[in-house]
Amino acid sequence: MPSARIIGTGSYAPAKVLTNADLEKLLDTSDEWIRTRTGISERRMTTEAEATSDLAYQAALRALAAAGLDPADLDIILVATVTPDMFFPSTACVLQDRLGARRAGAMDVSAACSGFVYGLAVADGLLRLGTLRNILLVGAETLTKIVNWRDRNTCVLFGDGAGAVVLRACEGERGILSTHLFADGAKGPQLMMPGGGSRHPITQRLVDEGLAAIQMSNGNEVFKTAVRAMEDAALTALKHNHLEIGDVDLLVPHQANLRIINAVGQRLGLSEDKVCVNIQKYGNTSAASIPLALDEAMQAGRVHEGDLLLLVAFGGGLTWASAVIRW
Ligand code: UT7
Repeated sequence: MPSARIIGTGSYAPAKVLTNADLEKLLDTSDEWIRTRTGISERRMTTEAEATSDLAYQAALRALAAAGLDPADLDIILVATVTPDMFFPSTACVLQDRLGARRAGAMDVSAACSGFVYGLAVADGLLRLGTLRNILLVGAETLTKIVNWRDRNTCVLFGDGAGAVVLRACEGERGILSTHLFADGAKGPQLMMPGGGSRHPITQRLVDEGLAAIQMSNGNEVFKTAVRAMEDAALTALKHNHLEIGDVDLLVPHQANLRIINAVGQRLGLSEDKVCVNIQKYGNTSAASIPLALDEAMQAGRVHEGDLLLLVAFGGGLTWASAVIRW
């Protein structure tokens, strides 16, 4: 059975920077509160003209170049996002057209901040079938388009960006060793965008009441669940592969809050130099955060052939997930 190996990474963030100082001018918050409670100093923000597929396209081009592939080589395109360009066609189809990847099938994956790891599981499963060769997986989000700028509990947290990987079916010991996916739909209302779908179609009243925007009912509760869930997902993955935490060369966690990342790292017993952190520059970019951090680690020369990478995600759904990769 072939395994799925990442043969190229790429990322892209829009040029516009929104600092904590900018937010201080917009609402009752402070740079000090945001930095100490979340670790975020600034985030990137799309312009009115930029959509999720525009970010996905740039990240995809970079990942394809790193992999040495043409769009025509792709069999499948997956885009993990909760901020698609539109309901349908999927952002993956928009991207397929933009890339000119005419041979590729395309679909979106919706698992909020866990979307990239969910997408890895889908790609891994498809490549293991043995009938496909190359898959492009992109995590791309424009969360600044769906935050309520009057809600300081949420709007300071999120940012825009995209990260992409090209996966290839390969023989041998390297590649994705495992993926584990989890969900607890009963806790979905803790972190949601209630309006805009078939339950509450868009109306002026809905917009006025802030229902067509991200809502988090109890950030503190979500925080505690995230720490426990990410630790559990990591331990489940290690146990499944008969590995110890000492075997891990790099942890690439979802970037929701620096305090969550630090708590997960400490509970697992990982030293800080083995944990990827870039939340200070991007905020929480949901499905884009893991591939953005992974690409940054690649560019910084932190990932070497044979390294063991542990990816852990947590987000709306609620969903959480882990993946182990032998690079
Ligand atoms: O992406 C995956 C899912 N998302 C997450 O994992 C996010 C998880 N949650 C968190 O990261 C944290 O809970 C937050 C960063 C959202 C909040 O941090 P916290 O330490 O849990 O703060 P809190 O919600 O307990 O609020 C503390 C205080 C409150 O004031 P009072 O009631 O104590 O007077 C808030 O009103 O901080 C206040 N506050 C703010 N103050 C200044 C909340 N947001 C802000 C803000 N600026 N932006």
